[in-house]
Amino acid sequence: MKKRVGIEALAIAVPRRYVDIEDLARARGVDPAKYTAGLGAREMAVNDPGEDAVALAATAAARLLKQQDVDPAKLGMLVVGTETGVDHSKPIASHVHGLLKLPRAMRSFDAQHACYGGTAGLMAAVEWIASGAGAGRSALVVCTDIARYGIKTAGEPTQGGGAVALLVSEQPDLLAMDVGLNGACTVDVYDFWRPVGRREALVDGHYSINCYLDALSGAYRGWRERALAQGLVRWGGTMPSEQLARIAYHVPFCKMARKAHTQVRLCDLEDAVGPGPNTPEAREAVAKSAASFDAQVARSLNVNARVGNVYTASLYLALTGLLDAEAATLAGQRIGLLSYGSGCCAEFYSGVVGEKAAERMARAGVEDVLARRERVSVEEYERLMGLAPDAPEALTPEPGTFRLAEIREHRRLYAGGTVA
Ligand code: HMG
Repeated sequence: MKKRVGIEALAIAVPRRYVDIEDLARARGVDPAKYTAGLGAREMAVNDPGEDAVALAATAAARLLKQQDVDPAKLGMLVVGTETGVDHSKPIASHVHGLLKLPRAMRSFDAQHACYGGTAGLMAAVEWIASGAGAGRSALVVCTDIARYGIKTAGEPTQGGGAVALLVSEQPDLLAMDVGLNGACTVDVYDFWRPVGRREALVDGHYSINCYLDALSGAYRGWRERALAQGLVRWGGTMPSEQLARIAYHVPFCKMARKAHTQVRLCDLEDAVGPGPNTPEAREAVAKSAASFDAQVARSLNVNARVGNVYTASLYLALTGLLDAEAATLAGQRIGLLSYGSGCCAEFYSGVVGEKAAERMARAGVEDVLARRERVSVEEYERLMGLAPDAPEALTPEPGTFRLAEIREHRRLYAGGTVA
């Protein structure tokens, strides 16, 4: 019998401060509706240099082990997906391993491919377990990033930061993955990049949206071909994508999930077997269905709208939001997930929500983590953005969290971790 493999539990970590997106719009002289309705944002996480990608990753991972009572001795792999590396050689995974005092007998590494790095890590872990190489052990996959474009840039309202830690095992209480069905698509493009030494990303914003939609089409069609072959979806009656109970997308900003969903539906409408809308205009009208977006996607966006883009973690924040809102309803149902990383690579995959998902999500305390944050003014956000990355403020870490304390002789030293 095929092994059941997937996500057993998750935990999130976010910076302690956020800025209200309408405050930011007003400060920039922009109609707030552009950021709220036009981009779908509500709040944007703001990190200080003490909350770097390591600190956020370690906080999320420690929270996961504590909340879900995980025995570290059962872990055999630690992967960190990130594009906010802090060193060219020493991986964030090694810091997390040390800060959490994990066992020596395990594999650890970072995975990098823009926002796709987290999914790359997740698939490495899933396939390691599915192949039997894990020999019954679990994997810890942490997606951690700080999305930073700079003050007064077009990308400014799509910044954010945080981390999501995923426990991957043969007990997929949150999501049992359909191993072997994934569709992937890679294209060499310059849509978003961050040359070595630069703190802010460079981006061709509107082109990046087209790259996302193009790669998504390839990835979705690849998944659909295999799902059709295995009889998990079919042509006729409803479209194949409509046979997924929900779809969670990579969310650089919430409106992007709406565009992505329209694109998935367009793929189905263009390739449909049998009669259907037969002009591009008619297909687009059906693809844009607000009812379909509301039913299949809208409820996954609550956490993303309050945190902003978290690059590798954005898809997993959408999964968090979805399961936090609907785990009980979705138990036993198949959902789709779309990961996108600039550069670019997209991957579409699916899985079945577990019967214990609601219980697992209750332990994650997602709303509590978000509610503990402090709203700051735009002036304070700008002050934090201006701080040097190697000179963290001397703040005491909140219980259960880690902070970068200092960089001494090019070595990063962290404080905290007393688990609340
Ligand atoms: P922009 O040019 O300032 O905004 O930048 P716009 O003029 O395109 O307006 C945005 C939307 O607001 C439009 O809606 C407007 O109509 C609407 P749309 O036509 O797209 O549906 N709008 C309004 N709505 C209501 N009331 C108003 C109003 N005014 C305008 N008054 C852009 C937007 C996203 C390009 C910019 O913020 C940016 O460059 N962001 C960063 C890049 C990005 O997020 N790209 C996404 C795809 S690539 C990706 O996902 C990978 C990534 O996560 C990185 C990685 O992989 O590592 C980024």
